[in-house]
Amino acid sequence: MQANPELQAFLKACQKRIEKALDHWLPAATILPEQLHAAMRYSTLAGGKRVRPVLVYATGRALGADPQQLDAAACAVELIHTYSLVHDDLPAMDDDDLRRGQPTCHKQYDEATAILAGDALQTLAFSVLCRDKTMLANAQTRLEMIQTLATASGSRGMAGGQALDLAAEGQTLNLAELENLHIHKTGALIRASVRLGTLAIEQSENLLTQKLDHYAKCIGLAFQVRDDILDIEGDTKTLGKTQGKDQAQLKSTYPALLGLQGARDTADQLLAEALESLSGMDKKADPLRWIANYIVARSY
Ligand code: IPE
Ligand code: IPE
Ligand code: MG
Ligand code: MG
Ligand code: MG
Repeated sequence: MQANPELQAFLKACQKRIEKALDHWLPAATILPEQLHAAMRYSTLAGGKRVRPVLVYATGRALGADPQQLDAAACAVELIHTYSLVHDDLPAMDDDDLRRGQPTCHKQYDEATAILAGDALQTLAFSVLCRDKTMLANAQTRLEMIQTLATASGSRGMAGGQALDLAAEGQTLNLAELENLHIHKTGALIRASVRLGTLAIEQSENLLTQKLDHYAKCIGLAFQVRDDILDIEGDTKTLGKTQGKDQAQLKSTYPALLGLQGARDTADQLLAEALESLSGMDKKADPLRWIANYIVARSY
C-alpha cells in the first residue's frame, strides 16, 4: 500500500480534513471540566489511521459529491470509533496500556475520566450530525444518519460485538460464530461509514448503494481479520499498541481458528468479493478500491 502514491495522496487529503473538523467540534481543554475535555482531545487527536472517515470521503467521491458535505459524517463515525477504543482499552475490557503510540486514556488520566471521555465522545458524535451547518442534508436524512450510526454502535452493532468478544475469551467459537462477532464489533461501524457517506449526500437507495453496502460489509470483516493477523505478526512500535495481546488474553481470532495462512486467505477472499462489488463503477470509485487493498495489506 505504501507503493500506491495515489492512495497516499488521497489519505493525506482526507486526514487533513478530518483533523481540522475534529479539532473544531471537540471542546477546548480550557473549558470546564478541563480534564474531561483534555482527555477527549488526547484520545481523538492522537493520530490513528482515520480509515472510517476516509471511507466516508471515498464513498462521496465515488458518487461525485463535494467533500464539504461529508465532514459531519466523517467526524461522527471517528468520534464513535475513538470512544470504542477508549473503552476497549479499559481494565474491565482488554486492559491495554498503549494506544495510537501513546499511553491509553485511563493510563494518562484515570479510569473514571476514560469512561466519561468515551461517553462524551459518543454523544458528541450524534450532536455533530444534528448541528453541522455545512451539510445540506435535511432533517429527515439527518434522522436516518443518526439511526444508522446508533444501530451500528449499539447492542446490535459494535457494543454488542464487544460483548460477544468478551464472552468468547477462552472459548472456541466455530467459524460462523467468529464471523458474527467480528461483523458486529468492527464491521458494523465500517459498514455505517459507507452508508453515512451515501446518506449525507441524500443518495436514495438503489442498486449502486446496495453494491456499496456489500463492499463495506466485506472490507469491514476483512479489517478485523487483518487486525487479528497484525496482533501476531506486527510489532508494538509500528502498531502503536501492544502486540500479542490476543493470545495472552485467549481471544477468539481468525488466526487462532484458521491459522495465519487461513486468516490471510480469508482476508484475500473478502478483498476479492469487495472489489467485485465495485465492478462496473468508474474511476471515481478507485479510492474505494485502494482502501480495500490497503485494509488487507496494512502493517498497522
Ligand atoms: C482498531 O481500529 C480497533 C479495531 C476495530 C480493529 P483501527 O486500526 O482503525 O485504529 P486507529 O483508529 O487507526 O487507531
Ligand atoms: C476492538 O477490537 C474493536 C472495537 C470495537 C474497539 P480489538 O480489541 O481487537 O482492537 P485493538 O486490537 O485493541 O485495537
Ligand atoms: Mg477488544
Ligand atoms: Mg483491544
Ligand atoms: Mg485487535
